[in-house]
Amino acid sequence: MVQKSLSELKNEVSGCTRCELCKTRTNVVFGSGNENARIMFIGEAPGEKEDLSGIPFVGRAGQLLDKFLEAIELDRESVYIANMCKCRPPSNRDPRPEEQDMCIEYLREQVRIIKPSLIVCLGRISAQRLISPDFKVTKQHGEVYDKNGFNIMGTFHPAALLRNPNQKPEALKDFLIIKEYAKGL
Ligand code: URA
Repeated sequence: MVQKSLSELKNEVSGCTRCELCKTRTNVVFGSGNENARIMFIGEAPGEKEDLSGIPFVGRAGQLLDKFLEAIELDRESVYIANMCKCRPPSNRDPRPEEQDMCIEYLREQVRIIKPSLIVCLGRISAQRLISPDFKVTKQHGEVYDKNGFNIMGTFHPAALLRNPNQKPEALKDFLIIKEYAKGL
C-alpha cells in the first residue's frame, strides 16, 4: 500500500462528512506542526478559536501548552499537535464515542506518517481512548506505555491546569520526560 502524505490526508479530511459534527463546524482542525516530529500531542477536540482558525490549541489552553513547550526548549514548529476529533463539538461538549470512532482512523494515519518517538495524550478523552478506557490522569500521568510499538503517555490537559494550577508542577515533571524523548534516548 502506498502511504499518503500528510497534505494528501489533510485534503481528504477537509471534506469529511462522516459524523454530525460536520454540520456545525467552521473548519476541520486537522493538526499542525512538524511532519518529522519526535513528539506528537493529542488533545480532545477543537474549541471555538480552533474552529474559527483551523489550528489546534490556539486559545487559552493552547497558550499554556506553548509555555510548557518553551520550558523544555521546544516550540510548535518542532512538535506535532492534533486532536482526537477534528471538528468542534457544539458548546464544547465532550466528543461522543461514535464521533471518536469516525475520526480515529484519520488520527491513526497521522501517527503512521509522522512516526513519533512519543505520543502525549493531553487529558482524559484521548488517554482513555488511546491508552486504556480506565486511564486516570491524576494517577497515571507521566507513565510511558507501549501501544502497538509506539511509546505513549498521558498528562494533564492544559485547560484542566488552568482550572487547577496546583497541578502544574506535576505536569512539568511529565514535560521533563517529554524533553528526554525529544532529544532522543
Ligand atoms: N482543547 C483541545 O483539546 N484541543 C484544542 O485544539 C483546543 C482545546
